[in-house]
Amino acid sequence: MPPEVLAQLPTGLLIDGQWRPSTSGTTFAVEDPATTEVITEVADASSEDAAAAMDAVARAFPEWGAVAPRERAEALRAVFDRMTARADELAAVVTAEGGKPLAEARAEVAYGAEYVRWYSEQAVRVDGLARRAPAGTNHQVVMHKPVGPAFAITPWNFPIAMATRKIAPALAAGCTMVVKPAQLTPLTTAFFAEIVREVLEERGLPTGVLAVVPSSSARRVSEPILGDPRLRKLSFTGSTEVGRTLLKSAADGILRTSMELGGNAPFLVFEDADVEAAVQGALAAKMRNAGQTCVAANRFLVHSSVAEDFAAGLVAAFEKLVVGHGAAEGTTVGPLIEAAAVDKVEELVAAAVDRGASVLLGGERPDRRGYFYSPTVLTGVDREAPTVTEEIFGPVAPIVTFDSEEEAVALANGTEYGLVAYAFTRDVNRSFRLAESIETGMLGINRGMVSDASAPFGGVKSSGLGREGGEAGLEEYLDSIYLAI
Ligand code: SIN
Repeated sequence: MPPEVLAQLPTGLLIDGQWRPSTSGTTFAVEDPATTEVITEVADASSEDAAAAMDAVARAFPEWGAVAPRERAEALRAVFDRMTARADELAAVVTAEGGKPLAEARAEVAYGAEYVRWYSEQAVRVDGLARRAPAGTNHQVVMHKPVGPAFAITPWNFPIAMATRKIAPALAAGCTMVVKPAQLTPLTTAFFAEIVREVLEERGLPTGVLAVVPSSSARRVSEPILGDPRLRKLSFTGSTEVGRTLLKSAADGILRTSMELGGNAPFLVFEDADVEAAVQGALAAKMRNAGQTCVAANRFLVHSSVAEDFAAGLVAAFEKLVVGHGAAEGTTVGPLIEAAAVDKVEELVAAAVDRGASVLLGGERPDRRGYFYSPTVLTGVDREAPTVTEEIFGPVAPIVTFDSEEEAVALANGTEYGLVAYAFTRDVNRSFRLAESIETGMLGINRGMVSDASAPFGGVKSSGLGREGGEAGLEEYLDSIYLAI
């Protein structure tokens, strides 16, 4: 990371609009996954700090909730403008702590900023309803108000976009928020939070509306916040396992929750598909952030009549990828986030090979420092191999064949997850049939990318509850009040 960017990064806790050290006086190290070198140390929030952050956002809530929607909208728009002006610096931080290539980091900053812009535009469009009651005796009026102080726990794979996807609708709705960024990538959130703080201060708005508490222990920070009766909303992006535990805690406080959890996205290529387009779609759906996304294509389900062409195309496309440090010129695939991630990917590939899969490309760690794994294509993969049944979170594409649409749909649905699916077909009727029959929250037809700040992102089954983005993302931070009048 350029030294001038590092020098400006806040490394404390943001509470009550002030950056401060942890009350315990301790810090934790943030590493560059491409080199394993320490970038800097960050304040490690104690449970007292977490309670203070919760207290600050609870105190700031009445004032922020009363700020005119237009003023909230304009403050968010100013945050968007500043993010855009500082996009290169933000991207450098994303790459340094998360590893993704700079071009991808810039795309993430633009995507993250778009949530801020979208919700700046939505803040003044919170609609209600007025109608005559069916019995004709009175009228029904439905109004909306912010749910209250919220708590967000964000993941390391999109440190800016997953933060803005939660913070922007919360602030637009009039909620305040404590954010616990991922331990592996707290710096990007700190950079963004400082932009928000500056903008609020310049406009004379309450700066305590956003608190940020990085910590080496999620439990230490979460428990006091989740146990505070003033908290009204929890938003989490991460694994299904952690999501289940958080839902149990949220049950005690009867909290509104948004849970964006694990995925096992099927990528279906039918016999009538444009195979070259499917290969390009596969590249986008699989290799974004080296396969470390919840929406990464996890299983390539390909009609047997086109499987050979598709596999050859994917190998040719993967061969052109350049693995390296995200900040190095020409890199298109960065490292995985940590050593354990590489171990897991290696085990999943070995398990597929044990069950008879062939390695067409990759299947190894490149000989270099950092947490790298080579882009890998596997064919003849057993449908029950863990490579197919578990979320890979790495640059590995296992190909499984099918012979009919029914079989493809059954394979696609044969998982506890239902976040996203991708399908390549020229048949419009089939596209609509798939939307009906595949158990998923999102479906990409003839494209390997569905994410958009203005669209409802989220899953069904064990992939989560609620939606982020679009109109639905704002509703998650609003309560309705019904007046019988
Ligand atoms: C995720 O991987 O959790 C989010 C990816 C996206 O928003 O595109």
